[in-house]
Amino acid sequence: MKVLGIETSCDETGVAVYDTALSGVQALRAHAVYSQIALHAEYGGVVPELASRDHVRKLLPLIRQTLAEAGLSTRELDGVAYTAGPGLVGALLVGAGVARALAWALELPAIGVHHMEGHLLAPLMEDDPPQAPFVALLVSGGHTQLVAVEEIGRYRLLGETLDDAAGEAFDKTAKLMGLPYPGGPQLAKLAEAGTPGAFKFSRPMTDRPGLDFSFSGLKTQVLLAWRDSDQGETTRADIARGFEDAVVDTLAIKCQRALDAAGSDVLVVAGGVGANKRLRAKLQDMAQRRGGRVCFPRPALCTDNGAMIAFAGALRLQAGQHDDAQVKVTPRWDM
Ligand code: KG4
Ligand code: ZN
Repeated sequence: MKVLGIETSCDETGVAVYDTALSGVQALRAHAVYSQIALHAEYGGVVPELASRDHVRKLLPLIRQTLAEAGLSTRELDGVAYTAGPGLVGALLVGAGVARALAWALELPAIGVHHMEGHLLAPLMEDDPPQAPFVALLVSGGHTQLVAVEEIGRYRLLGETLDDAAGEAFDKTAKLMGLPYPGGPQLAKLAEAGTPGAFKFSRPMTDRPGLDFSFSGLKTQVLLAWRDSDQGETTRADIARGFEDAVVDTLAIKCQRALDAAGSDVLVVAGGVGANKRLRAKLQDMAQRRGGRVCFPRPALCTDNGAMIAFAGALRLQAGQHDDAQVKVTPRWDM
């Protein structure tokens, strides 16, 4: 089955073709992402109306480009998958409208995919994918969740953030130290030059049992440290390092606990923060010590992309699922 995937939930237009007849990384025939970062940068965050308009401009050319890269015509597709939520309603409607129109014109089945299920399944597109059951850590700009994956499509929430998501904490912390939007990756880059231990921040909610997270207090700790400092380049890098270490340690501690609680030794990590090098190294280390395994998608498939939507949609379409012919999105949606 060759499935076209369309992602437009936020500020990235993503398109891909996933071919279930091929195996491993070959199955991803082509994928392309157009990032709107430059468009939103001067506002310091995503402007929903501008995001929708840019998806309108970029989506069709990106579909053409992706099909050309895959060497396929629209007639050779077997299904269309699109992100139906959660996300910005106008942005979602652009992807849903185009996906539905294509499916209708080509007489193909179409399916709306949950954005976080897309993230969760992304590591399974890599070679030697893990088999369920496993534990998934979903860390994006909007979500921080630990999920027990009993089988594909059967998910049990183990814990989640009570306030900011990990990516959101990265972005807000970067902003308060004067880094431009989107700050998360820049903060991580800056942290590479920082001295470990120069600034020590807490590991929130690790001193009591449970699998929930809270990152907003950490941001406040950074705010105070930054305000009382000389605000020089070295200090900024040191604070960035202290903050990153605090987030990474906290995530790693909770992952250990979640694996113990679920009786599993396989951890899957997905979402934008999954691209963070220090988090990847720390979790690799932890998995090695446990004699278990940690699986990440390649960094380009950690952040928002069409490949994960094509893949999640392909699994559902193959299982015989599809949606009615209507343009419907769900901006707030539990997985
Ligand atoms: O999954 P994603 O692309 O979009 C959402 O669904 O939210 O995640 C974006 C988030 C942003 O908050 C961004 O700052 C964060 O992922 N992020 C990172 C890194 N790369 C992206 N955070 C820390 N280190 C990184 N290298
Ligand atoms: Zn995402």
